[in-house]
Amino acid sequence: MTEKKAKIAVLVSGGGTNLQALIDAQNRGELGNGEITCVISSKSDAYALERAKNNGIKTRILIRKDFTDIASYSRAMRDILIEEKVDLIVYAGFMTILDENVCDAFQNKMINVHPALIPSFCGKGFYGLHVHEEALKKGVKVSGATVHFVTAECDAGPIILQKAVDVLENDTPETLQKRIMEQAEWKILPKAVQLFCDGKITVENGRTVIDE
Ligand code: GAR
Repeated sequence: MTEKKAKIAVLVSGGGTNLQALIDAQNRGELGNGEITCVISSKSDAYALERAKNNGIKTRILIRKDFTDIASYSRAMRDILIEEKVDLIVYAGFMTILDENVCDAFQNKMINVHPALIPSFCGKGFYGLHVHEEALKKGVKVSGATVHFVTAECDAGPIILQKAVDVLENDTPETLQKRIMEQAEWKILPKAVQLFCDGKITVENGRTVIDE
């Protein structure tokens, strides 16, 4: 008898290269006991939706602008996630901060990839290219990516995996973003999903313990 797979919902807002990394890992059999069953976008024109459709994955759209506030948007998202019976929720370039309505319902079941080494360059306002602009402004020599559990406080949940990437002298926000994606995000996000789906991550006192 085969074990029931963990159902994964991936939340997106944009290009979806991290979603693609997850799909590629799944196709290589590297998502452990997990399966992407649904992609939910906060924008109707996100290219990530095409990536899902090209791979036969169900898509849903929940547009942020259709809701007056974050509380009502969060409630609607929570209802969709319950309806989809998901075991794991992955933020892959999802640019909306959901409130405790979702975070409490799925405590330690939501993970996010952030394009910096948390606690540097994170929190409200630090998303996408802005993160790399700030890293270059500060002159850091090393940046990278972090995968962490999502809590109601932005980018503050328990850290699961991190990977450092060198910052080069002539970097622009775009070149740094690309190198961090290629060398860090696209590797540690699928790895964290695999670890989660194989039951290898526990949270103790706000820190994760990985059983590899
Ligand atoms: C990625 O770099 C991701 O880490 C970042 O946005 C990009 C989305 O790219 N997320 C955040 O900044 C969240 N705070 P993608 O749509 O190609 O995966």
